[in-house]
Amino acid sequence: MFDLKIINATLPDGRTGLDIGIRAGRITALETNLGGDAGETINAAGQLVSPPFVDCHFHMDATLSLGLPRINESGLLLEGIRIWGELKPLLTHEAVIERAMAYCDLAVSQGLLAIRTHVDICDERLLGVEALLEVKKRVAPYIDLQLVAFPQDGYFRYPGAVDLLNRALDLGVDVVGGIPHFERTMSDGAASVKALCEIAAERGLLVDLHCDETDDPMSRHIETLAYETQRLGLNGRVNGSHLTSMHSMDNYYVSKLLPLIAEAEVSATANPLINIGIQGRHDTYPKRRGMTRIPEMLTYGITCAFGHDCVMDPWYSLGSGDMLEVASMGLHVAQMTGRAAMRQCFDAVTTGPAKIMHLDGYGIAVGNKADMVVLQAADPIEAIRLRATRLKVIKSGKVIANSAPRRTSLSLAGRPEELDPSAMRSQFT
Ligand code: FE2
Repeated sequence: MFDLKIINATLPDGRTGLDIGIRAGRITALETNLGGDAGETINAAGQLVSPPFVDCHFHMDATLSLGLPRINESGLLLEGIRIWGELKPLLTHEAVIERAMAYCDLAVSQGLLAIRTHVDICDERLLGVEALLEVKKRVAPYIDLQLVAFPQDGYFRYPGAVDLLNRALDLGVDVVGGIPHFERTMSDGAASVKALCEIAAERGLLVDLHCDETDDPMSRHIETLAYETQRLGLNGRVNGSHLTSMHSMDNYYVSKLLPLIAEAEVSATANPLINIGIQGRHDTYPKRRGMTRIPEMLTYGITCAFGHDCVMDPWYSLGSGDMLEVASMGLHVAQMTGRAAMRQCFDAVTTGPAKIMHLDGYGIAVGNKADMVVLQAADPIEAIRLRATRLKVIKSGKVIANSAPRRTSLSLAGRPEELDPSAMRSQFT
């Protein structure tokens, strides 16, 4: 007897015609023609059943604050930081919680059930930290929310940040953050990487730094991050976010750098929507894309993810919590258009970030958590192409969001009366 059975599912790895049996919030069976009764049965009708989307790089303290107190008309990173600085003293505990909870509703509707959010600790009140700790508690039944102590204005550059970061960790923030390229000098940046990794080693925490978010090819804090990771035995527990300077680095230097990152098992998170929007702003033409070297890192076995980073905040006016939009942008910017590469882009918003976040029991396999999404698509490539509708979002074996399939009725003489975009097939699908 199962609580829920999903029949005729296609999994992201291509296995098809599978039935998934769920009991007490866990996947207890995964096979073809699964027998046994179930409280509820969902027929996936051969469509894609994926583990939930995961966003390992977000800013939930700023989300949905677009226009407060003004719009970032230039679109520059530094203007965004200035506007955020103007907004910070005006923030209230309740308003931050309200916006974050609204974003979490949107996330659930998009099948996004795990989010790592940075939270700015450069604020004597630690208002964002306390608000997001409350949000984490409230959404725990349906979203794995991980918080990163993020010194937005610099760990050494902002007076008091050293103490504030420790206080945030004492309050229960999960991950150590940083922003070495924003420190006053390269040496201060390197010193911040060392200090932050030491804090993580002492406290047994993960590390996720905004690292080298610049077009300056000489911004090489990722090298220090990989070195410190190995020195302190933090292998597999450290992520470098953005790494956009790598786009512009000398190729010979990168050929030395990538094996170092791989050896240290440091993972990489690009944020395609933000990187393509913000980088290359000092260029005339040709303009650099600015996103880090994801396909090259994947060939070294480095775990990679695409993050959303921002939705309707001082840095980015758009976004909808749709990790398929993020994957689509990453695919285009990195020119990952081969079929295997497109599947890797799907992995970069599912299994990759799940590994980076050290999520427990993630993935569609017996024994894992019964968290999954039924998509109106045949496979991961079609899901990205169509930004597929999330027909059912399932958490702990319960349906927590339902969407009607996307269909359009047509009034065209001699043509079908209804168009289902996911019904258009090529020889590959
Ligand atoms: Fe960020």
